[in-house]
Formats: sequence, C-alpha cells, structure tokens
Amino acid sequence: MRVSRSILAVPASSTKMVEKGLSSGADLLFLDLEDAVAPDSKAEARKNVIHAVAKLDWRGRPPMYRMNALDTPFFYRDVIEVVEGAGEDLGLILVPKVERPEDLATLDTLLRSVEVASGLQPGKIKLEAQIETALGLVNIDAIARATDRLEALHFGPGDYAASVRMPQTSIGTMDEWDDLYPGHRFHYVMHRIVVAARAAGLRAMDGPVADFRDEEGLRKSCLLARSIGFDGKWCIHPGQIEAANELFSPSEDEVEWARKVVGAYEEAAAAGSGSISVDGKMVDAASIRMARNTLNLAQGPQMPHKG
Ligand code: COA
Ligand code: MG
Repeated sequence: MRVSRSILAVPASSTKMVEKGLSSGADLLFLDLEDAVAPDSKAEARKNVIHAVAKLDWRGRPPMYRMNALDTPFFYRDVIEVVEGAGEDLGLILVPKVERPEDLATLDTLLRSVEVASGLQPGKIKLEAQIETALGLVNIDAIARATDRLEALHFGPGDYAASVRMPQTSIGTMDEWDDLYPGHRFHYVMHRIVVAARAAGLRAMDGPVADFRDEEGLRKSCLLARSIGFDGKWCIHPGQIEAANELFSPSEDEVEWARKVVGAYEEAAAAGSGSISVDGKMVDAASIRMARNTLNLAQGPQMPHKG
C-alpha cells in the first residue's frame, strides 16, 4: 500500500506552483482542476496537467490530478482530454463530491473506453474519492466498493460543512462553534470515512487546514486525524508538509514500544503463552496487531508506482 502521510493540493493553473509542488517533500501531490481553478481557466489548466503528467519529474510519485465533479460541464473533458493526452504516465485521478456508487461506475466505464482507445491496459488508471456531501456519506460503503480502481477515501471538510449546513469560520481547525459543542464536531463523518475505507481495504486521507500560518492548529488537526486512524492529511501550502510527514509517522517512543511488544510476545508465544505482561501492561494478540501497524508505518514511504 502507498504511504501518503501528506498530499499537496496544487492549482493546475499555476505552472510555478506545479514546479514547486513537484520539488516538495510531499508523499503525494495532485494538480487541481476543481475548486482552485476558475471556470474560465479550466481549459488552459487541463493542458498544464497533460504537460506536467507526461513531461515533468514526479520523483517516484504517481502522477495525479483532481477532475471536476460529475455534475459539472467540465467532467467529461477532464477525463477524456487528460487520459488521451497523458494516460500512459498517469497514475491516479482524484474525484471530488462522489455521492453514489454509480458515479464511480460511470467514470470506470468512460475510463475503460479511453484506455482501450489509447492502447492502455484497461483498469490501469486508479481513483481516489472525496466524501464531502451528506449524500456521499450516506452511500459511503457502496462507494468504497464501487470499483477495483479505488485506492482511497478523502474527507472534504469545507464542502461537507456546507452540505449539512454546519456553520464554520475556519476549515480544518477549531473555531467558536467548536467551543460550544461537547465533543469533536466532525467525529462522526471522520470516523465513518476511516471505517468505510478500512472495511474495503482503502487508504483514508483527512482534509486540509485552510489557515496555513496556524502551525499549532495544523499539528492538532494532524494528531486528531491520526488518533482515529487516518493515514495522512491534505496540505494546501508547502509549509504544511513537514508537520504532516512527521505527525503521521510513528514517534521513536511508539516504535520502541512496538519492538518491545513484538519481541516479548514472540518469546512468550514460543514458550506457549498467549497473553503476557510488558512493563506492567497486558500484551496479547491485539497488541501485536497494533504494534505491527506501527512497525510497518515506521518503514517510511514506499512508492510502488513509478510515474
Ligand atoms: N503548491 C505549490 N506551491 C505553493 C502552494 C501549493 N499549494 N502554495 C504556495 N506555494 C508556493 C508559492 O507559489 C510561493 O512560492 P515562491 O516562494 O516561489 O514565490 C511559496 O509557496 C510561498 O507561498 P506564500 O507566499 O506563503 O503563499 P501564496 O500567497 O503564494 O499562496 C495560497 C497561498 C492559499 C493561494 C496557495 O497556498 C494555494 O493556492 N494553495 C492551494 C489551493 C488549492 O489547491 N485549493 C484547492 C484544494 S483545497
Ligand atoms: Mg471540496
């Protein structure tokens, strides 16, 4: 599975930011054709995507872009033009505002046709889906299983808040509304996304912090997301990447504890014992599963897909 502690959003209309994004330390990055690009600039931005995917160095990452949603007039061109123009090098398409499994089935069918016409292996191009509307959340389990192309579910906090009419003055960090609510206002949707993703064998990505100067808010947001199982976080500014990479990696203490637990448990299992005590805490088979997650994560980025 890919490591994606950070995923940088880069407006596809800015060739300068595309260059900067590619040379950043982000585990993944996508060129955005959706909300970061004004309607009149979409056609030009699409050309930038084709150029960047086919010609620029993605440094081992799978080339990726975000198309416009299926209910927009941009959808079919975003798919057909980019896949015809750069399908051979393209790895992933991020799909915003997925609401029904049929959305991904439609996209799968269209992609298959373009892939075959372009001499590409059908199913080559993989998808990631944003859950950011009430309807998308209601249908999340079916969406997660809609196509074998799907690799990840992403949370879109701004659009989600608008969709369910949650008032919000800052995206991804706490505001005065959060002071009123006895709990985390996004707990339900965030945990729901992680559970649906894990049940379907997908990665789970948390959305961005819009206030890119709020370092403390970003760290808290990363840790909250990691605490409930997210693999990584969106970054909308290069200054956010380092914190995401750090905080979605296990700390030295976590790795040390995991090694200790695995070592002690293996010794005990060899001696025929199921649950044991390490530093005064019970350790059993569930502890080993958690410890192995930590050790796998500690191995760092592995990018199987060469772009
Ligand atoms: N990707 C790549 N480079 C970026 C970047 C991004 N997302 N955001 C900023 N940069 C670059 C800037 O171009 C600037 O480069 P320079 O030093 O060579 O001039 C540098 O990082 C510092 O940027 P800064 O001046 O602090 O911010 P800005 O005012 O240029 O940009 C935003 C602020 C919010 C407009 C910009 O970060 C952005 O467009 N983010 C992505 C928005 C997006 O994709 N939204 C949709 C998904 S939520
Ligand atoms: Mg959105």
